[in-house]
Amino acid sequence: SGEMAIANVQFDMVTPGNEMKWDTTEPSNGSYNFGPGDQIVNWAQAHNARVRGHNLVWHSQLPNWVSSLPTNQVQGVMESHITTEATHYKGKVYAWDVINEPFNEDGSLRQDVFYKAMGSGYLADAIRTAHNADPNAKLYINDYNIEGENAKSNALYTLAQQMLSQGVPLGGIGLESHFIDGQVPSSMLANMQRFANLGLDVAVTELDDRIQLPASSSSLQQQANDYTTVVNDCLAVSRCVGVSQWGVDDGHSWIPGTFPG
Ligand code: G3I
Repeated sequence: SGEMAIANVQFDMVTPGNEMKWDTTEPSNGSYNFGPGDQIVNWAQAHNARVRGHNLVWHSQLPNWVSSLPTNQVQGVMESHITTEATHYKGKVYAWDVINEPFNEDGSLRQDVFYKAMGSGYLADAIRTAHNADPNAKLYINDYNIEGENAKSNALYTLAQQMLSQGVPLGGIGLESHFIDGQVPSSMLANMQRFANLGLDVAVTELDDRIQLPASSSSLQQQANDYTTVVNDCLAVSRCVGVSQWGVDDGHSWIPGTFPG
């Protein structure tokens, strides 16, 4: 397809959009399906591309059998899932989004099945479990609306400091970067730098920049400026290890299905 022709020549890194998520990889308890994710890895190996693993623990695209578990079974199931998937992809992914989107907008932790079963301790437990399975992978917390300095990114910063002081093998922060045309936060560079100063990698992990249709020449110019700003911000931070856009082209974007128009 046209999408693959572009990917084959213009990209040196790939993130599976859905293929490594829990609903695909462990649709029922203890029964694993790595076929779709393996296809992505195969493409990457054929093209000398790095793979960002996405993701191990997330409240969404989580099968019902997990969200309806009795509380006292959640930790064991979470650890088994992480161990099995991270072991399967050991040496094939350079980084894992171990924890995806744990925060509410006000900086409190989402009250998902993992939090309800283990409290905030699930975060460190998940990262330690992933590290045991694949000690060489960079282990990330990935979230949206943490690109600038705000309540949510401040809470994540505090969590990252705590984890590092406790020896939790957190390796990076993923800034999803699902932006609105003209609204890239002016504090993005400073925000990335403060995480980098903790000794963490940072990455722009899911970049897109949505425009209310119909696009005009000025909204398209603004979008181009936004992309330039984000790439320049990443280039200015030595620990910023990459920019991933969420989808090869606009024809395969999640945006129109979620934001009509
Ligand atoms: O595969 C089924 C198909 O069998 C079914 O017929 C169809 C009908 O709805 O749904 C298909 O599944 C969809 C899946 O994408 C694969 O296309 C789901 O409905 C749809 O909800 C799912 O959306 C994904 C979304 O995460 C779910 O939260 C998007 O593709 C994916 O791009 C998006 O990615 C997330 C990141 O993982 C985390 N950050 C935000 C980002 C955007 O939402």
